[in-house]
Amino acid sequence: MIRFLINQDTVELEEARADLTLLQYIREHRKKTGTKEGCAAGDCGACTVVLAEPDAKKPNTLHYRTVNSCITLMSAVHGKQLILVEHLSSNGNLHPVQAALVEYHGSQCGFCTPGFIMSMFALYHNNTKPNRDDVLHALSGNLCRCTGYRPIIEATLAACAQAPNDQFTQNAITTLKKLKALSGLEDASDMQLGTGHILMPTTREALRDAIEQNPDAQLVAGSTDLSLQFTQQLKNVNKLISLCHIDALKQCTTTEHSLTIGAAVPLNDAAPLMLKRFPQVAELITRFASLPIRNQATLGGNVANASPIGDTPPLLLALNAVLHIDNGIAVRKLPISEFFVGYRKTKLAFNEWISAIEIPLLSSFQKIAAYKISKRFEDDISAVCAVFNVTVENNVIVNISAGFGGVAATPVQCDALNNALVGKPLSSQECLTLGKQILHDAFAPIDDVRASAAYRKTVLANLWHRFWLENQTENKIETRVVQHA
Ligand code: FES
Ligand code: FES
Repeated sequence: MIRFLINQDTVELEEARADLTLLQYIREHRKKTGTKEGCAAGDCGACTVVLAEPDAKKPNTLHYRTVNSCITLMSAVHGKQLILVEHLSSNGNLHPVQAALVEYHGSQCGFCTPGFIMSMFALYHNNTKPNRDDVLHALSGNLCRCTGYRPIIEATLAACAQAPNDQFTQNAITTLKKLKALSGLEDASDMQLGTGHILMPTTREALRDAIEQNPDAQLVAGSTDLSLQFTQQLKNVNKLISLCHIDALKQCTTTEHSLTIGAAVPLNDAAPLMLKRFPQVAELITRFASLPIRNQATLGGNVANASPIGDTPPLLLALNAVLHIDNGIAVRKLPISEFFVGYRKTKLAFNEWISAIEIPLLSSFQKIAAYKISKRFEDDISAVCAVFNVTVENNVIVNISAGFGGVAATPVQCDALNNALVGKPLSSQECLTLGKQILHDAFAPIDDVRASAAYRKTVLANLWHRFWLENQTENKIETRVVQHA
């Protein structure tokens, strides 16, 4: 059974298809049609809704997350408060974010408007007095074809300039009590939706049992990739095992040598930890898809689905991350460089899962940069992704660890780059030209809608040129990165 709140009403859902999306539930089962469907792929934001839950750092307050309901599964709603655009007005009065959008003329056809409103609403509650960058960050998953973004941004800045004061702040204590009561009802036998359609284990032992008893079930965490099989390819999936409710998969720890991130930690929660230790890779972390996607997607999921265009595998390859792989009995550690074995194929056995990702911390000799090349700045998939981690002592390269996406059937490294350039001065012309030639010739990428093979080869070589330029002390150039730690 899945228990959650719709606004202030408790819902107990006993039966539903495993592949029922939250958007289908909202529109078809609840007949709430304010939430729209545009792309059904997490790309447009028309379906944005908010899930509120106790804040992990301040359990007596609520944290409001935007999600794309078109690619959210019902298991992700368990234990949370679902807030829809219909819930925002009160006693016939518009919510402050709605009133601001009207006042600033932020809507024309209006199809995108409910999604924008929900992103504005989450920001209104999570960030008092956001600046323009915060607003852009909050709206990164919402597309508007009519209005232009200026009035929407200005409306958001105006609405969020005041401390939140609406029926949700007034009801916060009641909401927290209701959410607590929901979680208090859980027991292991109860944690499934329908007769085995979605299993929601809460411990690694229960996860092991669930996999053994259901070898045909697919594991799912954020569902931002898997859901496309239902919404785009119209496939049916009958049985899923959700990893969202296992606390052991959501722990993060830092030692003096490494940062370890639980596999089921949403990327947006992992981001501040990663940006603190690896600020040089902000371009990749802050431009990963959009905020609603990062609120759902997990680091473990991005690695396990082994997509050749996933953004975090090149980063983790360059940083020499180690995967903790569990089967419920023992945990083995595997360097990520050995994990990908073919297109969407990995070394995970059927009864194993990634429990955490351990990333070694950097020494002062390592020069790092991460580059994402895509058609849109936000909410887009990389045509090419490159991450360089070059150890330099006395201006001489002693090691290169790099990771690349979009150029092969899997995320890849390039040993030839290391073999050719170790021992050479980083500032030398030879280092520049040899590196560019090696990267241009190293891979045989494909032509697709994002880029041609020739473009990918050229841009990869040019990214080495950019890295080389950025690391010439007399020629330092600034890159355009907005950080949202
Ligand atoms: Fe476009 Fe969900 S309908 S993001
Ligand atoms: Fe028409 Fe935004 S007002 S898409």
